Amino acid sequence: MEVSPFPYQGPLPPDRVRGRDGLLQDLAERVTERRVTALLGPRRFGKTSVLRRLAADLTEVSTIAIDLFGVQTHADAVVRLSSAMQAAVPSIREPAVELSVEAGIDLGGLQAKLALSPARRPDARALFDQLVQMLVTLGRRMPLLLVFDEFQSLTTVDGATAVLRTRLQHHYADVGLIFAGSAPSAMRDVFTRHDQPFFNQADLVTIEPLDLAAVHAIVVDGFADTGRDAGSVAGNLFDLTGGHPQRTMRAADQVWRLTGPGESADGRWGRALTRLRDAEAGVLAATYDDLTATEKKVVRIYANGGSIYGSAAERLELSPGAANHARDRLLADGKLRHRDEGDIVVTDPLLADWLVRRLPL
Ligand SMILES: Nc1ncnc2c1ncn2[C@@H]1O[C@H](COP(=O)(O)OP(=O)(O)OP(=O)(O)O)[C@@H](O)[C@H]1O
Ligand SMILES: [Mg+2]
Repeated sequence: MEVSPFPYQGPLPPDRVRGRDGLLQDLAERVTERRVTALLGPRRFGKTSVLRRLAADLTEVSTIAIDLFGVQTHADAVVRLSSAMQAAVPSIREPAVELSVEAGIDLGGLQAKLALSPARRPDARALFDQLVQMLVTLGRRMPLLLVFDEFQSLTTVDGATAVLRTRLQHHYADVGLIFAGSAPSAMRDVFTRHDQPFFNQADLVTIEPLDLAAVHAIVVDGFADTGRDAGSVAGNLFDLTGGHPQRTMRAADQVWRLTGPGESADGRWGRALTRLRDAEAGVLAATYDDLTATEKKVVRIYANGGSIYGSAAERLELSPGAANHARDRLLADGKLRHRDEGDIVVTDPLLADWLVRRLPL
């Protein structure tokens, strides 16, 4: 079977990352100049993909990428740190393993040890601290970039970000540091709230949707590379997704599947859109259902391009106070986002599309 040129699940391999040249250059400069950076953006905007590409591009620096998604305890964080060290390129893995052996830590066996009975289990807090110190030691020996992905998860582990801050703060000049995360306000809070250990410790950089030129190039090349013609479908895709990276790839894949080798995508958009809507309807309905009654009204209004203070709000019996609260929560969760122009939109264009069709105003 032919492999689709539009993968839409999980991070992309570095050579597939397109349309991120400006961001990549900015991040590369930040790493080189050792400016601590927090990369913020909604889910599935391509944060992990762009960071993998950055690691591949920065050949003079070795990267350890730590995925903190869903960590709840020090033991979870320890396991993630140790697997990140073991997954790193040999130039950094080998000294990491050496250091751990010197410290009496068997990186490969940590997970099993942390599952032992309490009396035989190592202290996960102490181990976390030790591993962080090992990262700092590595960074002082060789050019190192540490990427903490899904960093907001670590804030739920009592005291963990404070340890990280304490161990790292005197070494910002030694180690490249990028923190990435998705629930935008949880991430923002880590770096902008006075009571947080990383207050004012990083520059915030936001990842934006892909622009029309990038979507056009990705779509046209994806079709051409597989012996097909994209026709004018890139414009249809951009109109639907507004450049939301994962949604763009999902929709592009759908049209591509309906276009045989040697064929053009022209004339196939309508059918692709119907299939896409059918395939996603269940998940979108469930997503919508998970919202509170007030959030539902607010999302519905923004999907339909209305104002939460206007006539649509009145018709939905939505009070300004309740609407403001719900809007702020939805922005904090990344379900809504500010567009360049400052207006607020539903982050997932397919959810917006579903709402316009199912619950028009
Ligand atoms: N530069 C890009 N060009 C085209 N598509 C992209 C790009 N970056 C990301 N995507 C699409 O978005 C999907 C998700 O990418 P990725 O996992 O990097 O996002 P993320 O922001 O890390 O998501 P999450 O918040 O779920 O961790 C990819 O599978 C791909 O379809
Ligand atoms: Mg990610």
